[in-house]
Amino acid sequence: MFANMMRTKLCLVFCVLLGLVSSISAQSESTMANPGTRPVVLVTNKETPLKGINKLKLKCDVIFPQNHPASREEILELAGQVDGIMWVGHMLLNGEVLDRGGSRLKAISTMSAGMDYVDTEEFKRRKFPLGYTPIVLNDAVADSAIGLMIAAGRRFHEGRLAIDQSQWKGSPQWMLGQDIKGSTVGIIGLGGIGQTIARRLKGFEIGQLLYTGRRPKPEAEALGAKLVPQDELLQESDYIFIAVPLTNETFHLINASALGKMKPTAVLVNVARGDIVDQKALVAALKNGTIFAAGLDVMTPEPLPADDELLTLPNAVVIPHLGSATVQTRDNMAEIAALNVLAGIAGSPMFSPYPY
Ligand SMILES: *[C@@H]1O[C@H](CO)[C@@H](O)[C@H](O)[C@H]1NC(C)=O
Ligand SMILES: *[C@@H]1O[C@H](CO)[C@@H](O)[C@H](O)[C@H]1NC(C)=O
Ligand SMILES: *[C@@H]1O[C@H](CO)[C@@H](O)[C@H](O)[C@H]1NC(C)=O
Repeated sequence: MFANMMRTKLCLVFCVLLGLVSSISAQSESTMANPGTRPVVLVTNKETPLKGINKLKLKCDVIFPQNHPASREEILELAGQVDGIMWVGHMLLNGEVLDRGGSRLKAISTMSAGMDYVDTEEFKRRKFPLGYTPIVLNDAVADSAIGLMIAAGRRFHEGRLAIDQSQWKGSPQWMLGQDIKGSTVGIIGLGGIGQTIARRLKGFEIGQLLYTGRRPKPEAEALGAKLVPQDELLQESDYIFIAVPLTNETFHLINASALGKMKPTAVLVNVARGDIVDQKALVAALKNGTIFAAGLDVMTPEPLPADDELLTLPNAVVIPHLGSATVQTRDNMAEIAALNVLAGIAGSPMFSPYPY
């Protein structure tokens, strides 16, 4: 209820802001006497969606690194020549960037929800305006989580390998997977993405929904989700979703002992960050039947080398960090990041400030 209201409100604010910025910028552009006085924004990746770039261009000059992908040194070099940065990608964003930016640099926004590659403590210490783009990617990420749940639980990858190897048997006991209806699902971290996964699960008639977290979530009741200790979630769940941010507390949260507590029929889905899982332990668990299967949108390292052992496992469905990779979602992320930077340069509150 509250979450729905918040979402509606955020959408409203977002739309109004977009409209506002467009009309203000349209005016100022037509009356712009000296384009040389326009602020300059560095966008660190040339492939950033035009929706965001065009928003910036209404009020600013936009520059890009020459190389694609850009080197860190190239980005640091340009940081000193701009008023704002749209930081696209997961390259370390820390005090060094702010130092190289110097006094001219007023604002930075990432184009992501996870901020594990950002030294947020340093931004907080300097009170430096920092934006990010949560919420808009919840739907796309949750969709991919559901896709991985089904693909891993129903052995899509293994089945395809069997076809490739002329091993299609089709007999009654062949390639059997796990049911979803009536199952117990555990969500580690019932934040925006976890809640969106939970809403999608309603259509699957699952038996029980468990979650873990530091404190009860007000949204849990409407979702029929029950807060339990982590061990209980690991022991009881048929499907386990990881949807927490990567922090020092969640690093290798799923290690050999956690995997050992899961059911041998359990399916683990990770759409958060690779380092939340001890990948060596996961590979061992998938090989020796400690758990049934895993669906991974994230892993360690990224990009994953083609010869990584993970890719040799028939019961690991692995996709290359595609959670937010839809046209609409990336457009929205770019647009919000642009609004953040514009507001930060103007000295106004960002549309979506990082709550450090
Ligand atoms: C996380 O751990 C690293 C390395 O141990 C440490 O440098 C950093 O300060 C920690 N961060 C927080 C927020 O505790
Ligand atoms: C797994 O993590 C838990 C909690 O941090 C810790 O107590 C345990 O020793 C770890 N087990 C292994 C095998 O690393
Ligand atoms: C599977 O591998 C893990 C990690 O090496 C180990 O802890 C576990 O005991 C093994 N389980 C079985 C059934 O061999």
